[in-house]
Amino acid sequence: MHPTDDSDFEKPGRSSMEEYAGLITGENLPRSPRGIRAHLSKCAGIAAGLTISLLLTLCIYLLLLRNLPVEVQTLVEDYGYTGPLPIQYNDTRGPYIECPEVPFPAHPPDCTFDLLANGWVPNPCFDAELHHDMVDGHDYGFFRDRWGKDKLHQDVILRGNISDFATGLWVHFHEHVDHCWYLLNGSVRATAMQSIGRLDVWVDEEHMQHCFGLIKKKGDPTFIDYHVKALFWHHRCYLGRV
Ligand SMILES: *[C@@H]1O[C@H](CO)[C@@H](O)[C@H](O)[C@H]1NC(C)=O
Ligand SMILES: *[C@@H]1O[C@H](CO)[C@@H](O)[C@H](O)[C@H]1NC(C)=O
Ligand SMILES: *[C@@H]1O[C@H](CO)[C@@H](O)[C@H](O)[C@H]1NC(C)=O
Repeated sequence: MHPTDDSDFEKPGRSSMEEYAGLITGENLPRSPRGIRAHLSKCAGIAAGLTISLLLTLCIYLLLLRNLPVEVQTLVEDYGYTGPLPIQYNDTRGPYIECPEVPFPAHPPDCTFDLLANGWVPNPCFDAELHHDMVDGHDYGFFRDRWGKDKLHQDVILRGNISDFATGLWVHFHEHVDHCWYLLNGSVRATAMQSIGRLDVWVDEEHMQHCFGLIKKKGDPTFIDYHVKALFWHHRCYLGRV
């Protein structure tokens, strides 16, 4: 640095006021040892400050965040769900969202009424394409009585006033089989599509095993088994990819 400055200085025609000004304020002068030390200690200060804040952050993370109670953890993590339903936590099943019970005709937020899963389903667990393919334009047999005289059209059920059929509805054998197909296919599709949600019925093994048995059965599609009723409820959708 020093020799360069000198040679620059000696060059003819480089003695303009601008260059002098630079020299006088010391910009082009070599740093004195004290100046270097001051500069170094400033750098060291910044580095130390950064290291300390990094260590503090790490400590806070290790001490606090890693040991947060699950209720607070679910507030911190969204498990891929950013909708309006609050994320709740079940000790065995983990985080979930659930359709809240709101007085009809209001709809629970971020939920869709699902005819074949029987009730309101949080949208991350609702398969619109599957529901469209299996429900739209059909008229499944749902009845208020076990003799099949008081039929409730599926369009009426789809309005979602669950309190109107709070004790459940009797169904044709055909509806029961399709309900099982629907659940099995929905569960397979959600897994294949790496959906963030798993419907409560899909993780109820007893119900799913019953469905495997049922779809193997042959029977009169209009038979009404009076031991079987479709119960409608506000569903849960467990969160987190499998
Ligand atoms: C968690 O879920 C399981 C399975 O659905 C259920 O049996 C249990 O009662 C739930 N626990 C709580 C605290 O809600
Ligand atoms: C599952 O659902 C999809 C979408 O509706 C459909 O394309 C497929 O054929 C269904 N699978 C079965 C076995 O019904
Ligand atoms: C919903 O069903 C209940 C029970 O049958 C009934 O009292 C109420 O009037 C229905 N609500 C509407 C808006 O239809």
